[in-house]
Amino acid sequence: MMSFPPGFLWGVSTSSHQVEGGTVHNQWSDWESQGRIRDGSNCELACDWWNGATQDLDLAQRMGLNTMRISLEWSRLEPEEGRWNTSALAHYYGLLVDLQKRGIRPFVTLHHFTHPKWFEDRGGFQARDAVETFSRFVQRVVEALRYVCSDWVTLNEPNVYVAFGYLTGEFPPGRRGDLVGTLRVLSRMARCHAEAYRIIHEFQPHAQVGWAQNYVVFEPGSARYRDRVAARIFDQLFNQSFFDLLHTGHFQPPWDRFAESATAAPGKLDFIGLNVYNRLHVAVDPRAKHSLFARVYVPEDVPQGDHAAEGAYGECHPEAVTRAVEYASRFGRPMYILENGVPDRDDRIRPWLLVNAMQRLHRLIAAGHDVRGYFHWTLVDSFEWSEGWRLRFGLYGLDPATQERYPRPSAELYARIVRENGLAEELLEKYAVPSPQSPVSV
Ligand code: BGC
Repeated sequence: MMSFPPGFLWGVSTSSHQVEGGTVHNQWSDWESQGRIRDGSNCELACDWWNGATQDLDLAQRMGLNTMRISLEWSRLEPEEGRWNTSALAHYYGLLVDLQKRGIRPFVTLHHFTHPKWFEDRGGFQARDAVETFSRFVQRVVEALRYVCSDWVTLNEPNVYVAFGYLTGEFPPGRRGDLVGTLRVLSRMARCHAEAYRIIHEFQPHAQVGWAQNYVVFEPGSARYRDRVAARIFDQLFNQSFFDLLHTGHFQPPWDRFAESATAAPGKLDFIGLNVYNRLHVAVDPRAKHSLFARVYVPEDVPQGDHAAEGAYGECHPEAVTRAVEYASRFGRPMYILENGVPDRDDRIRPWLLVNAMQRLHRLIAAGHDVRGYFHWTLVDSFEWSEGWRLRFGLYGLDPATQERYPRPSAELYARIVRENGLAEELLEKYAVPSPQSPVSV
């Protein structure tokens, strides 16, 4: 048995827009009604959490989870600028109390891709007063929720938010190829993080505050020098830039010339959250002008879950956990894997991922890396952003129309790992190799 340290946190991650349903005051609901979702769907009822999360909290409790990551929907809390919805605040208070009562420690994300339409209309994080506006929101919610939560994730994946919102155009505001905009928004978000950190610690000196970084392994498409440089640039911009901002207050040169610095940020970090899923290959391609003149691709012969509408979602790569933790360790903060998972409706390779990710994690902890928890993405299938309902990440499957849930085999497998607080050797043997690729389910 590969045992984990006592008190290790085992959880799942979720986000408000993806599970609540009926979130109509944020920029994503506009995006969805403009027909921007690849399968034509919208989030609709999602997992219907706004009407009650009890059945899913029961599932989590039965699995023995001792933590869960949720997010607050700013657009419910402040649907119009300056108008606060106290019943929404009371709703979140109740949800957090419910988690606590079940012995499930909540981690709360303040911004998980969505924000009110009025904030978006003013330019989102590009607006001059974005830091003040976001801080006002943080002040309000932390003051109200400080007795029921002390682990805060300020921002979810600023790197994904900007890459999809300003480079590929798959997320609102749908800009393409705007590298300068990307860098500016990123540094603005680092300033938002710093202010949120300050505010939270004013209310709760002992709170733990971090952010969630998506970490992708970028592999050069060939041994050629230009592909190796391209992979390094992707690594620098996607994986390292937010760390740079929080660590030094600046981007690395030459990117520091294009955006303001975030001089208040260094030191304002209690933990690092790592969201780890994929490996991608990178090869220089002069035609790829919206992705920095490089083709980012997934070779066909690698383990993959369900396909996204226009191709592979990514290579499912347990080793990415190792690479992410080894990189992030240098910043000297405790780490949590705040997301890890695979879209896999038929549960073909999720068990393989789970077991192999746990094995990597166990090795890392044994080697002295301070990783304190693992959160699987996600408990129940939820609305998957620009892919809609096409990609299924749940340990439990969901029929969004009937709201029926059913367990995938991985639910019991994860519950066993959690129950045993470790990984039995027998599981390693059983899941040493991923199941062969089967036809992609849609
Ligand atoms: C996001 C989640 C998303 C998951 C799977 C992460 O980048 O934080 O909201 O559902 O990946 O794509």
